[in-house]
Amino acid sequence: MLVLAVETSCDETSAAVLGSPGGRTGANSGIRPSGARPPSLIAPSAPEVLSNIVLSQDEVHAPYGGVVPELASRQHIKTITAIVGEALSQAGVGLESIDLYAVTQGPGLIGSLLVGLSFVKGLAYYHRRPLVGVDHLEAHLEACFLENPAIAYPVLGLLVSGGHTSLYLMAEPLSYKLLGKTRDDAAGEALDKIAKFLGLGYPGGPVIEKLGRGGNPRTFPFAVPRTKDRSLDFSFSGLKTAALKHIRDHGLAKDDARLPDFLASFEGIVARTLVDNVRSAADAVQPRSLILCGGVARNARLRAQFQDFAREAGLDAHVPSPKLCTDNAAMVGALALKKFAWRPGPGTDLDLDAYAR
Ligand code: KG4
Ligand code: ZN
Repeated sequence: MLVLAVETSCDETSAAVLGSPGGRTGANSGIRPSGARPPSLIAPSAPEVLSNIVLSQDEVHAPYGGVVPELASRQHIKTITAIVGEALSQAGVGLESIDLYAVTQGPGLIGSLLVGLSFVKGLAYYHRRPLVGVDHLEAHLEACFLENPAIAYPVLGLLVSGGHTSLYLMAEPLSYKLLGKTRDDAAGEALDKIAKFLGLGYPGGPVIEKLGRGGNPRTFPFAVPRTKDRSLDFSFSGLKTAALKHIRDHGLAKDDARLPDFLASFEGIVARTLVDNVRSAADAVQPRSLILCGGVARNARLRAQFQDFAREAGLDAHVPSPKLCTDNAAMVGALALKKFAWRPGPGTDLDLDAYAR
């Protein structure tokens, strides 16, 4: 069974074609008779990613130091047809071979979401194929299973993106219990804001990682923030204020020789804050495996600290390859295939709506 998936929740236009674990045996194959156990959940195997095209809008938003929602939706409109065409052509299939359509419903920028949703609804309606709407955050978590389908449950998952920083307990496939989330800025947002303040460009995470690579992370002192009630929630606004104070007190600017040390220190404390919370959550829920996902999971320092903790705790840890950490449609297609195998929908749901939060 082949799925065509589209992701337009923020500032990446992405389309992917995936074949379900059973293989790519043509239109409408692989649909489970209702009531049978989903095959993918009996013996987990990964779908095959036949194409995963991602067009970033970074250049459009960079001059503003952050995503401009109206420009994002207009850019999606301009590029979506070509991106979907490229995904089909790289996969070597036409729309007539697609058995299932998948699209991100939310959360995200409402205008951007509506572009992808309307586009895919139109295709599903015209070709009379089922349509599965998926949650962007659940799709990020699914990215881990795409490369490692046999991850042992219960799974403790840390999702770190530009808009979200959350911890989930997954007791079984497709089950998500929120254990904690940020009370103010997301981790990626904090990185983006400090980079913007220093005039380093957008998105901030990759540029901070690049410029801070040779820096000494112990140069600038930061304290790991703790929520007063010792819950599993995160808070990054205090760290951001502390970073702004260092910048002012030391007169740090864009071309300063101390910048690598400062950026390494800031990136290091963000990573430590995230991993400390994973440690507390792991103590509380005793998972069998750990997963890390979302755009910030591309960060080498965070990946290393996360793996160090997992080794120390004797837990299996999985982080997607970098391309599957940032927004992409392959993770959307993978989640849609799993959802559809579990609970095949009645057909094209034209009432499917986008949600911003
Ligand atoms: O998941 P994502 O692509 O989009 C959202 O759903 O938000 O995440 C984007 C975020 C941005 O804040 C960006 O600065 C951050 O991921 N990011 C990184 C790296 N690459 C992207 N943060 C740290 N290090 C990176 N290498
Ligand atoms: Zn995302």
